Amino acid sequence: MLAPEAMSPHRSSAAALAALLAISLLLCAPPSATATDDHKPIVARVRKDAPTSLYTIIIKVGGVPLLLDLAGPLLWLANCPTPHRTIPCGTDVCEAVSSNHPPSCPYTACSKGAACAAYPYNPVDGRCARDDATTITLAANTTDGKNPLSPVSFRAVGSCAPGDLLASLPAGAAGVAGLSRLPLSLPDQFGDILKVPKQFALCLPGGGSDGVAVFGGGPFQLLAAPPVELATGLRENQLPLLKNPKVNNGAYYFRITGIAVNQQQVPTPPGAFDLDAQRGTGGALLSTVTPYTALRSDIYLPLHDAFKAATSGIARAEPVAPFDMCYQASALTVTRVGYGVPNIDLMLDGGRNWTLPGGSSMVQVNDQTVCFAFVQMPPSMPAAADSPAVIFGGFQMENRLLMFDLEKETFALSGLLLGIRTTCSNFNFTMGSS
Ligand SMILES: *[C@@H]1O[C@H](CO)[C@@H](O)[C@H](O)[C@H]1NC(C)=O
Ligand SMILES: *[C@@H]1O[C@H](CO)[C@@H](O)[C@H](O)[C@H]1NC(C)=O
Ligand SMILES: *[C@@H]1O[C@H](CO)[C@@H](O)[C@H](O)[C@H]1NC(C)=O
Repeated sequence: MLAPEAMSPHRSSAAALAALLAISLLLCAPPSATATDDHKPIVARVRKDAPTSLYTIIIKVGGVPLLLDLAGPLLWLANCPTPHRTIPCGTDVCEAVSSNHPPSCPYTACSKGAACAAYPYNPVDGRCARDDATTITLAANTTDGKNPLSPVSFRAVGSCAPGDLLASLPAGAAGVAGLSRLPLSLPDQFGDILKVPKQFALCLPGGGSDGVAVFGGGPFQLLAAPPVELATGLRENQLPLLKNPKVNNGAYYFRITGIAVNQQQVPTPPGAFDLDAQRGTGGALLSTVTPYTALRSDIYLPLHDAFKAATSGIARAEPVAPFDMCYQASALTVTRVGYGVPNIDLMLDGGRNWTLPGGSSMVQVNDQTVCFAFVQMPPSMPAAADSPAVIFGGFQMENRLLMFDLEKETFALSGLLLGIRTTCSNFNFTMGSS
């Protein structure tokens, strides 16, 4: 549940690596990844695992789910077959893969002639391991942003991992798919392998039916009456991504300037949302392995108090962990965008807001109870090198389209799709004609 830990990537070799990867990956790609599929984006299903509130992506050959980790640096797979492909020490690919190295994991230098080692990391419980760097076969469909078009498969660089590294991941998950901004993340490798822009669109489902991820740019359409294309509008509304100046952890940081409840700005301490350039702490980032947005206590407490005051007329219920403010479901009205409660505005760069209506701020925990869907970061939490002020979590991203551009270093987030009568589960997965 913590922020991803520090990595130490060697950005300088990224360009050389990209060229090398493109060549080595095409050489060993199965015949299905033909030249005619180049330049087409690919689409994959995204699932919510109810018991853990985590998300998986279906992109591995055979349809086995992998944990989707937006801030994760690497692709890894537990229990690699024996034998499996290895990557020689001393190559650029080896340097890149082994430099994604969590500080908590003992690092052993790679000796010439040996198989390259990588350091797979479990972002849910923070454990890591050392295992062989390898190539992993992935499979997806190309897409025009409306339907899947034709199947493709290809090999991407990743890591093997011991089976016990899967503990605390969703049942059935075989590994982790990292979608961070670092070299060797999936969007970065897809750019080189498929010759598409290093962009992706992510639409996390609220449960039940599958959501969707599209890598490589292009349009993005969801079924509605009539169907809606969302990518064009969002591309005109990009926000800058920030980098942690101290810890190059590959996470998607963004600037928040304040929070408001019911149009009233919440009194947070000056500079509470700032990213501290000296220490690398603070700031806001996006995390798919944090089920509910977590706020440092100097932000959580005033937000909690403001929301409490703004909802004082609504009958309370006993709190249900991990939440500390809950309501009787029967006391709440229901609107198209969720329970009828005052909006929370996250105030962003350029005077823009992300508005969180009831559908993004209140979660139903049982038949009778609905809770304020934010958590306070434990004050006693050992301060990770990069402990942020705000970890914007999965529930608050659900049923919105998120678009990331790794080259322009921008991103965009749509409003709650329920407001335009659709959801992330409305991608048309019926095969279309190419
Ligand atoms: C491609 O899409 C079809 C139709 O949705 C689906 O049956 C198939 O499993 C997909 N293939 C891959 C590799 O995801
Ligand atoms: C953003 O939210 C603040 C606080 O609710 C509000 O005062 C402001 O008008 C909003 N800005 C826009 C552009 O909607
Ligand atoms: C989904 O796509 C298929 C293939 O293009 C199309 O025939 C079908 O009508 C679409 N479904 C809906 C509900 O629009």
